[in-house]
Amino acid sequence: MSARVLAGPPVAAALLADAAARASRLPAPPNLVIVRVGDDPASASYVRGKSRKAGEVGLRSTVHALPETTSQAELLALIDTLNRDADVNGILVQLPLPAQIAEAAVLHAIDPRKDVDGFHPLNVGELWAGRPALTPCTPAGILYLLEHYGIPVAGARAVIVGRSHLVGRPLAALLLNADATVTVAHSRTPDLGGVSREADILIAAAGRPNLITPEMVKPGATVIDVGINRVLNAEGKGHLVGDVHPDVAMVAGALTPVPGGVGPMTVAQLLANTVRAAELQHA
Ligand code: GUN
Repeated sequence: MSARVLAGPPVAAALLADAAARASRLPAPPNLVIVRVGDDPASASYVRGKSRKAGEVGLRSTVHALPETTSQAELLALIDTLNRDADVNGILVQLPLPAQIAEAAVLHAIDPRKDVDGFHPLNVGELWAGRPALTPCTPAGILYLLEHYGIPVAGARAVIVGRSHLVGRPLAALLLNADATVTVAHSRTPDLGGVSREADILIAAAGRPNLITPEMVKPGATVIDVGINRVLNAEGKGHLVGDVHPDVAMVAGALTPVPGGVGPMTVAQLLANTVRAAELQHA
């Protein structure tokens, strides 16, 4: 038996259709500003994808591409201008940032009401307090995907492998708010396979290619692969692999593919968050 494939694109389309319908009821199309610093080609490509998709669903978006040498003060000055501009509904600063800029200072500076990433400490705190406002895109997209495919979360044993601020931690809060029993495992967890085998829903978000192998998965479990690892194949060509070994498909009940699983959900959720931010600002 091979696992049911939980494809991302049709679910992302449903989320985007809902966001577009809500956007059309607002006085003006929601406006997302994306700030990118430096020349990392992967970051540039993600940002282009986000901006293109925004246009497709009727949102406005602007990209500020700043040089690698940008100082923290210069970036904070731009954020201050964007915070004060009533025509800007959402602000996203693409991570990672160059070493001379403190990530925490930047995330603190963004107006929490425009924080479409959900990374501002106020939004992080509200999420953990069970009063989510704007929530991080990849975790929120995963919850939407589980709901779309009818995978029960309430009462499920969920194990997250990875404790990043972008995925593991906020996903733990969202699953807890949705009444799952949540374990967060990580690189220092002894007997990772023993822990992961308890999961009804196993989320791999460690950024380690093929970390999750079949014997680490309970038969019939739902496996969500958040990994986007660029590796070279035998011919020296780069391609994308997840954190989940392909053979897991023989054990799992359902599995998200890489690419074409969680990735499209992240972008769709970002635009849904932008619409949500605009709704809150117009309320
Ligand atoms: N870099 C990789 N993922 C993300 C994300 O979700 N938001 C931001 N701002 N940067 C990222």
